[in-house]
Amino acid sequence: MSFLLSRKSIVTQWMVEPAPSKNDIDFMLQAAVTAPDHGWLRPWRFIVIEGEARKKLSNLFVEALKVRNPDATTEQLEKEGSRPLLAPLVIVVCSVMTDEKPGVPQNERVLSAGAAAQNILLAAHERDYGAIWLTGNAAYDPTVKAGLGLAENMNVVGFLYIGSVEREVKERKRPDPAEYTIHWD
Ligand SMILES: Cc1cc2nc3c(=O)[nH]c(=O)nc-3n(C[C@H](O)[C@H](O)[C@H](O)COP(=O)(O)O)c2cc1C
Repeated sequence: MSFLLSRKSIVTQWMVEPAPSKNDIDFMLQAAVTAPDHGWLRPWRFIVIEGEARKKLSNLFVEALKVRNPDATTEQLEKEGSRPLLAPLVIVVCSVMTDEKPGVPQNERVLSAGAAAQNILLAAHERDYGAIWLTGNAAYDPTVKAGLGLAENMNVVGFLYIGSVEREVKERKRPDPAEYTIHWD
């Protein structure tokens, strides 16, 4: 429980090399595929981007921002392209909206992909990496979707930025669950 309760997001600016090893990445993906999955639809896909490939993601973000906002300043474009380069590893978690098993509501596919993403964050934390789940406009951008090669029925659920962290990170104050809970009787 202390491991679960101590998970916290780490900003990409605090991430340093080395990237997680292949073994660590496999561990994270194994955690991902234990996500609850109504109907065994496996409604998730994972795109692992590390090393030089991050430059392609960075270029894609910049290209997409140019399309979204042709007036974007050089500074805005640089900022947009910087994040994938700060994190040693990016895992893009995608949902798959299949028509299979129409009895399973579509949004449950997204929920399952979200659970897979959370499992990756937890697995990264267990291996002492810092991680953060970000979307931003890029996650919903058609240029990014096409550039990543996603099919029409797939969507980005999040970009998980993962890397080593050298600095001390304070525990994060969490809310009192009682404020968000009722015991219904
Ligand atoms: C679906 C989703 C998308 C998110 N997108 C962003 C984002 O684009 N930018 C951001 O600053 N935080 C985003 N967050 C929040 C961070 O991942 C993180 O949860 C937040 O900074 C709080 O840190 P904590 O996880 O330690 O509580 C997102 C969270 C979720 C679940």
